[in-house]
Amino acid sequence: MAVSLNHSPAQAPALPQAPFIVLGIESSCDETAAAVLKRTKSGETEILSSVIASQDEDHAPFGGVVPEIAARAHMQKIDLIIDQAMQKSGITYSDLDAIAATSGPGLIGGVIAGLMSAKGLALALDIPLIGVNHLEGHALSPRLAAPCPFPYLLLLVSGGHTQLLSVKDLGDYDRLGSTVDDAAGEAFDKSAKVMGLGFPGGPRLEKQARKGDISAYKLPRPYRGQDHANFSFAGLKTAVARAFEVSDKSDKAKSDLAASFQQAVCDVLSERTSKAMAMFKSGLSETDTPHRFVVAGGVAANQAIRQSLETLCAEQGFSLFAPPLKYCTDNAAMIALAGLEHYARGHSDDLDVKARPRWPLDATSAQQNPASGSGKKGPKS
Ligand code: KG4
Ligand code: ZN
Repeated sequence: MAVSLNHSPAQAPALPQAPFIVLGIESSCDETAAAVLKRTKSGETEILSSVIASQDEDHAPFGGVVPEIAARAHMQKIDLIIDQAMQKSGITYSDLDAIAATSGPGLIGGVIAGLMSAKGLALALDIPLIGVNHLEGHALSPRLAAPCPFPYLLLLVSGGHTQLLSVKDLGDYDRLGSTVDDAAGEAFDKSAKVMGLGFPGGPRLEKQARKGDISAYKLPRPYRGQDHANFSFAGLKTAVARAFEVSDKSDKAKSDLAASFQQAVCDVLSERTSKAMAMFKSGLSETDTPHRFVVAGGVAANQAIRQSLETLCAEQGFSLFAPPLKYCTDNAAMIALAGLEHYARGHSDDLDVKARPRWPLDATSAQQNPASGSGKKGPKS
């Protein structure tokens, strides 16, 4: 059948014009958070408020995040935290242009709590709702503090994920490598637990390591020298448990083991990232410089890891972008930012958008290789 060209093409809907303001809500693990972000007329991002209620005290007696306790705490706190974020921002609900909420991946009870509040607000205010991938929030987080244009190489290193991704554009991600078992944050948390350092494990272990000798214990560096960008942390975690078992369990033994473990993680992250840097560079055109490298996620708060990645970047000709510490661990400013970026491009979701316990950032590579896709054991799998 002939197609008539005798009509004007369908008009694309006009994109929202800045300034606009987005409320972001985060509740995917053990942080209940809300933040308000503004995109100014000149294209800058202003963080009007960012409020976080940690559940550390609720989970500490159990040495890890308990999903039922997390869900209940999110339900109890979410409205209060949203109100606090709104009050601190100095705007009113009627000034909001859109609501963004984490809709996965994460602990399902918590995600539902945040998403339901977001849906209620979007409905009541009659403004768009944007369901945000929590990992995309982390991926964009350095842009909260400084301009970081696409494309960049991303090391996403958190409690549930350890992945290397080529970030080509908003929503356009290629996975270059991923953990095949535990996430780096999980290895920190479990090693800290074995040594009785308390909860949350990552920061506690980092503190203990400051007094220790990085070469006191010989620990494995999984996949060293191999020509891919995948990770494995399960063996390292087990090696820490064995070494602690046969130690005298003194404070010095804990410090030395913590320092040796942290050094092993630094070495593994840097060595695996160097493989991904080569892969990333080969996918760029010659004019695509300078090369940018982003480290994001809770483990990116670790100073020794930041330092070793800084050294790697200097060696490999990359410039390092890392979010300020408060935006490494879970927060709602990064969710509001992802929402803001999608809103600016005219994206939004229906009010029946679902909470997703699993939601790989790079849908294609997860389909091609489910083994290194979304099957992690951590709370954010
Ligand atoms: O990004 P995040 O807050 O939550 C997830 O999305 O998983 O990351 C939490 C993880 C935990 O495993 C925590 O122990 C780790 O980040 N973490 C750290 C540090 N601060 C948080 N690991 C090592 N050193 C730190 N300073
Ligand atoms: Zn996170």
